[in-house]
Amino acid sequence: MKLLYAFTAAVTVVSGFPVIDNLPPDVHLRAAELATRTLKNLEAQAVHPHQPVKRQSLPLPSDALGLSRAETNCGPSIPCPYFNEEEQKISVEGEYAYASPAPDQIRGPCPGLNAAANHGYLPRSGVATIEETVSGLNKLYNMGLELGAALAAYAVIIDGDLLGGTWSIGGPQQTDALGSILGNGQGLSYSHNSYEGDGSIGRNDAYTNNGDAHSLNIEKFEAVYAVGGNDTSEDGFDQRYTIDKFRSRYQEVQEHSIATNPYYFTGAFSTVVVVPAAYNFVINFMSNHSEAEPSGYLDGYNFKKFFGVTGSPGSFVWNKGQERVPENWYKRPTISPYGLADVALDVGIGYLAYPNTLRFGGNTGSVNSFTGVAVSDLTGGVLDAKNLFEGDNFACFAFVLLQQGIPDFLKGPLADINNATSFLKPFLSPILDKLECPELGDFDQSLFNDFPGYKYSPTGPATNY
Ligand code: HEM
Ligand SMILES: *[C@@H]1O[C@H](CO)[C@@H](O)[C@H](O)[C@H]1NC(C)=O
Ligand SMILES: *[C@@H]1O[C@H](CO)[C@@H](O)[C@H](O)[C@H]1NC(C)=O
Ligand SMILES: *[C@@H]1O[C@H](CO)[C@@H](O)[C@H](O)[C@H]1NC(C)=O
Repeated sequence: MKLLYAFTAAVTVVSGFPVIDNLPPDVHLRAAELATRTLKNLEAQAVHPHQPVKRQSLPLPSDALGLSRAETNCGPSIPCPYFNEEEQKISVEGEYAYASPAPDQIRGPCPGLNAAANHGYLPRSGVATIEETVSGLNKLYNMGLELGAALAAYAVIIDGDLLGGTWSIGGPQQTDALGSILGNGQGLSYSHNSYEGDGSIGRNDAYTNNGDAHSLNIEKFEAVYAVGGNDTSEDGFDQRYTIDKFRSRYQEVQEHSIATNPYYFTGAFSTVVVVPAAYNFVINFMSNHSEAEPSGYLDGYNFKKFFGVTGSPGSFVWNKGQERVPENWYKRPTISPYGLADVALDVGIGYLAYPNTLRFGGNTGSVNSFTGVAVSDLTGGVLDAKNLFEGDNFACFAFVLLQQGIPDFLKGPLADINNATSFLKPFLSPILDKLECPELGDFDQSLFNDFPGYKYSPTGPATNY
């Protein structure tokens, strides 16, 4: 772990990328080259210079709940100050016209990615390279370049194909001529505890649904839909969703998971960061922006379109694979991308505003048996519940959690694991280099051995779902 934090090369100075271990130099070079090329290309394309990664310092808000309630649909610290119709209008025509996935095209647990692939912002196959991911998600959602790169690079090493540099937004990638799955290849749909986690906004916990955590549970959708108001009409124009309403909903979902899933587990990057971040993504990426509301608003109409849902409360239907970008929809303003630092901030604010949602631990094999693991035990006393949110500590913690999970999930030979972790480094360094982190040694993950959900790792059929 210390090794992971020892590197100092930023993506912009990859020529000085340090060679760690005795790894074959090509892995470092390939990753460094890819990261530089990706960010350079995309910076060149950007209409406006994108903002530098903001400092993480999150002065412990004295009124985190007030802060959460005051937050707009545009993120924790970036105002969306203006509206530019031409720049923000998203094309759903021509090469970006909607098409349902063909039988051999992959879709998965993430509505944001499914909609992007259905409109050709991501490859319609559902298998993408890092560059395709970064440019497609920037174009469609104005996702920060460094955020797209980090999410995609993590997907490549966790459940994609490291050699080919691709990853799947759903199930396993095609098999090779000999019939074996490429790379780690299970795809996002079967990345339980590494990418996909319990307590999702619309999907079931994997264990309670025979390993299927990628299909939308329509009752769960109906419940989250209801937090936006009482509009029961088919259009849903009167519903309004805010990040605070979703944070509060996340607490209800966790409580429901504890009461229904004997394998409920939260101790991994997926559950501590990805799951709450996904709630926040609905607000920050799916909101419609307008002259009157440059920071955006999300109504039931847009929420349903992006989630592939039709009908009205009581008769909602999930149309599998039919996630859409609405017509006449306007993304975040170009000068206000939502980046990696914003993800960490928004997840952190959520935990401060709803402290019960910050759980490490799980059920121990029966429902309602949740047992927590203290942050101080996990981090050998370096962090505790008190200082976790001081300075950059929470972001530091999240990134160690991310990196430390990797060997567990890859289960491959050590050389491959080292290749994978060094592949990821240049993609994380743009943010890690800006953080002031305490010396965080190895987390004591053996503390999680008592939780059956920690080891639960369903694999999937090689279908597109
Ligand atoms: C490379 C980029 C992305 C990756 C790798 C990714 C990955 C994932 C994964 C692994 C999940 C499952 C998490 C869980 O268990 O709850 C997920 C869920 C989700 N993602 Fe993404 N995502 C990406 C981009 C986006 C974008 C751009 C949006 C919004 C436009 C988005 C919105 C969501 C939502 C709303 C969910 C929760 C779905 C549900 O529970 O019904 N994601 N994503
Ligand atoms: C829905 O209506 C009920 C009764 O009129 C009210 O108590 C409740 O607060 C409303 N819910 C929302 C989210 O507006
Ligand atoms: C987005 O907002 C604009 C401006 O108010 C409106 O004309 C358009 O119909 C909205 N689009 C969607 C998909 O709601
Ligand atoms: C990982 O490293 C080993 C040697 O240590 C090498 O043989 C192998 O091809 C590498 N794998 C990838 C995916 O680069």
